[in-house]
This record gives sequence, C-alpha cells and structure tokens, in this order.
Amino acid sequence: MFMNHIKIPYENLKRVNEKYFKDLELHSKNVIESGWYILGENVREFENEFAQVNNIEYCVGVASGLDALVIGLAVFDFPKGAKILVPSNAYIACVLAVIQAGFTPVLVEPNYDTCNIDVSGLKNKYSNDCVAILAVHMYGRMCPMPEIMIFAKNNNLKVIEDCAQSHFAEIQGKKAGTYGDIGAFSFYPTKNLGALGDAGAIICDSEEVYLKIQALRNYGSHKKYHNKYIGWNSRLDEIQASFLRLKLSDYKMVIQKKRELASIYLDELTGITEVKLPQTEGVNHVWHIFNIRCEQRDELKIFLEKHGVGTEIHYPITPSKQDGYAHLFANQIYPISDRIHFETLSLPISTFLQKEDVEEIASIIKIFYES
Ligand SMILES: Cc1ncc(COP(=O)(O)O)c(C=O)c1O
Repeated sequence: MFMNHIKIPYENLKRVNEKYFKDLELHSKNVIESGWYILGENVREFENEFAQVNNIEYCVGVASGLDALVIGLAVFDFPKGAKILVPSNAYIACVLAVIQAGFTPVLVEPNYDTCNIDVSGLKNKYSNDCVAILAVHMYGRMCPMPEIMIFAKNNNLKVIEDCAQSHFAEIQGKKAGTYGDIGAFSFYPTKNLGALGDAGAIICDSEEVYLKIQALRNYGSHKKYHNKYIGWNSRLDEIQASFLRLKLSDYKMVIQKKRELASIYLDELTGITEVKLPQTEGVNHVWHIFNIRCEQRDELKIFLEKHGVGTEIHYPITPSKQDGYAHLFANQIYPISDRIHFETLSLPISTFLQKEDVEEIASIIKIFYES
C-alpha cells in the first residue's frame, strides 16, 4: 500500500552483497572457466571450511534448507510414519520436511518468551512412538539444547537441529547444529550466511551418517551408476559453494553488525510496556530476525510503513492452520503458537542498515505508542 514510500526496506540483498560484487564476479568467472559445475573443488572446500568453523567433523552441501531437513531425517531409517516432535510455530519447511521424509509431525508448543521449544513442551507431546525431535532455533536464538539432549537421551530420541535461522549461534561455547545428531542449514539469500540462490548443508559427527548423507544427496550413489539407496538429486552447486566460501570468510562481521543493530533496538525500545522485546539471557543470539511482540502488531506495521519502514511477519499463519496442512491437525489447538503469530513483528536488521536507520525506526515506534 505504501511500498513506494519505503525509505528503510526490511531487506535489500543488492545492498547486502554490494561489498562482495567484485569478488563474486571473480569467483563465478573461475567456476565458469573451470568447466566443472557439480560436486567439485568448491563444494569440497566449502564443506571442509563450514565444518571447521562449526567445530564439527563432517559437512555435506545440499540444494536447500528444506532438503537438509528431509535428508537429515531420512538418513536414520525410522519406520514409515514414525512420529517426529516439531515446533508448532516454525516455518512451514519444518513440518513439510517431516512429511516429505515419510514421517508424522507431532506439533510441540514453544515457550512463549523464547519462541523456541523446550523440555516442558516436549514432555507434553512425547509418546513412546516418537523417534526424533526437530529442534528449530527460531530467529537466531538457540533452543535450550543441553536440556533437550538429556531429554532425548533418556527417551532414545534422535535430534535434528534446524539452524536455518541460527548459523553460528552458541550455547556454552558450542555451536548450533553440533548438539544433535544432525545440524541442518539453509543458505537462502536472506540468511546470515546467504548464497545467491538456493543452497543448504548438513553437519554431523558420525562418519557412518556422513557417508550415507553424501550418497543420499546424489541419487543414493557413492559410485557412478551404482545406487545403494533411493536418494535425491540435492547437490550444492559449485557456483553457490564458491560464493558461500567467500561470504563465510566474513561471517564474524555479519554477526557483529547485527549484534550492534540489535543492541540499539534493545536500548531504545526498553521501557515501552506494550512491546515485548526478544530475550537474550543465557544465549548467544545471532539476530537473523529481530522480532518484537505487541498486541497492536497490525496497526504498528501499517504505521511503520506509512513512515517509510518495511517490516515482515515471521509468520502470519501457523503451520496447523495452513490450507494444505490443516486436515493433518484437525481439532488440535495451539494457543501459544497462535498468540505468537498474532503478535510477532520483525523489524529491519539487515547488514546494509546503519545505526541511524535503527534509531529512526525506534523513534517511530515510540511515536506510535505516545500518540
Ligand atoms: C527455520 C527454517 N527451516 C527451514 C527453512 C528452509 O530453507 P530453504 O528455503 O533453504 O529450503 C527455512 C527457510 O526460510 C527456515 O527459516
């Protein structure tokens, strides 16, 4: 409605990537001229570098974050239709991955304060036929993994961590994706580590799991025309891997910049009683998304737009209420998730923004609540 007045957009990928343009051109030229476009040196090196940064043994590049989840679930040979505990408030990819892998999603309500699942939510939905937990680290903040791992161990559950929104977040110095059996990543262009197209990766510590995932992403094959498993075609492109290598070398700057912007929001917005700010205690937040919660969410969104600020909602509709999924969750209620979806608003926090942009956004929010 007010789109052409937007002075501070929610995201601008051209501006995010501008500083890399020259190097990206060089990287793409090198790939083009190499004549090797699928599963070559760049994928191998990116996998090594990404594993190293995460302080884990193995990494396998795949075509998207969704595929990382599907393959990360399928690798364990759970019985067909087995139950997977998955948050009720996450992105649709999380529920879809469970279904595509041939299993049954059991929706777990998140903790209202953190928007992440925790052990009390898991206990409410756990039954003997659950085989795994899909722990989704929402917005850049990790789920309480030490406690979740104890619960999983006690109940013989595998743990797949969805790190699409939380690359390099940490709890007790241990990175997202390294607590569970599998860490699944998306490098969708808007992510803290973003490619220039679709891309994803899986990390793990087990050689056996690693070798199987390597085959699953490539038609179930380790050896050309020999297919040990029924797999997928989900290979990370050489060209995206070469871009990711370049951007990986700058990931600390991305997190530092986002932390600086987040701390301005936190300082400026503290004291507005109607606004619930994201919680930061005890976690090393990486701010993929800066979400506030407020009852007048829709009015505030329109007010910000009217004053030239773009925002997003992550997410307006819960998976259980999506048209294509509602039949799977008939007669089930998710009040915490509903409340989060009704109240959540994501403020701009991309790396192209300046300190002054965030100060301006905060002052517009103050005006909204003063008027
Ligand atoms: C939490 C979460 N999981 C999975 C995905 C899927 O990633 P992709 O879009 O790369 O398939 C996303 C993407 O936004 C996500 O936010």
